[in-house]
Parts: sequence; C-alpha cells; structure tokens
Amino acid sequence: MDAMTHAVEAIADMPANPIADAMGLQAIRLILEYLPVCVEKGDDLLARGQQQIAATIAGVSFANSQVGIVHAIAHTLGGLFKVPHGLGNSIILPHSIMYNLDEAADRYALIARGMGLEVEGKSDEEAAEMAANAIWDLTKKLGIPQKLSEVGVPEDGLEKVADVALSDGSIVYNAKPIFETSEILGILQKAY
Ligand SMILES: [Fe+2]
Repeated sequence: MDAMTHAVEAIADMPANPIADAMGLQAIRLILEYLPVCVEKGDDLLARGQQQIAATIAGVSFANSQVGIVHAIAHTLGGLFKVPHGLGNSIILPHSIMYNLDEAADRYALIARGMGLEVEGKSDEEAAEMAANAIWDLTKKLGIPQKLSEVGVPEDGLEKVADVALSDGSIVYNAKPIFETSEILGILQKAY
C-alpha cells in the first residue's frame, strides 16, 4: 500500500508530470491486480514478482514527482506511534483524495480511469470519489485496518500528529496547499 500511495501521490501532487503519470498508472494497475493475490496466496511467486515490479515502478513515478499529505501524516504516525509506514499511508490515502478533491479532481479522475473504473459520463469529482472508494474496497479485500483507532493511535494524540505533520517535508508538494494544523486535524478525525 506504500507503493500504491507513492503512485497516487506522484500523479496528484503539484510536481506531477507525464513521466510520473505513466509510471504511476502502470504501478496502480499492477497493484490492484496482484496485491490481493499476494495476500491471499503468499506462495504465488508470479504475483509477488509483479507486486515488486509495481513497487519499483511506483518509486520511479514519485522520484519524478513527489509525495504529499499522506506521507507527511504517515511519517508522523510512524515516528510518534510506531504505525507501520504502509499501513499509515493506506489508512490516510482515500481521505487525502476526498480532501484534495476541489484542487485535483482531474488528476484523481485520471487515476480512476487507470484503475479501470466505469467513469464514462461521470464528472471528474465523481470519478475521483470512485477512486477513493476503490482504495477502500482494496484495503477491505486485503483485510487491513481502515481506521487510525485500530492501529494504536490515541484520539488525544491526533492534535500532536497534525502539529508535527505540518512541518514534514512532503507537505509542501501536496496537491492542495496546506498551511494550518486544523486542516490536517480534519483529515485525521475523518480517518479515526
Ligand atoms: Fe512511502
């Protein structure tokens, strides 16, 4: 899910560009297809190989762009509460799509099309929401937590997380500029 987040953030964030798009979209397709197989059938070496390739391609994607608010929060959750990096990203990723919607709906619509979702006739905003829902569907299928309350983050720690995440280096590249702790706290409360 860290690789999925690298790809989605690289495509949506401010420094997005056609190279990051191309690499990110292919990574997303491979992860949607093969990550559930890896989890369900751990000895499927073809699936695991494809997931490894997807992780590498997603790395190329964000090396040509950047990551944003999801990583700013995941770094902080790891540092303060030992939440594994991929899990923190996984929980925050769909919420970031909803948060950035008014700034980057067209980018998330591109991702929704890349995911193979039925976006014909839908607005960019509707397609973006479908992409967020597809991520929730994926993590449900994988059987991993979808809420911060499930991974050892205390509710009274959210303000501290928002505070620290505001000064994380990734935040300046987020699709939508973020200047206030309260904006991050809003995302955290939705994800709790
Ligand atoms: Fe990451």
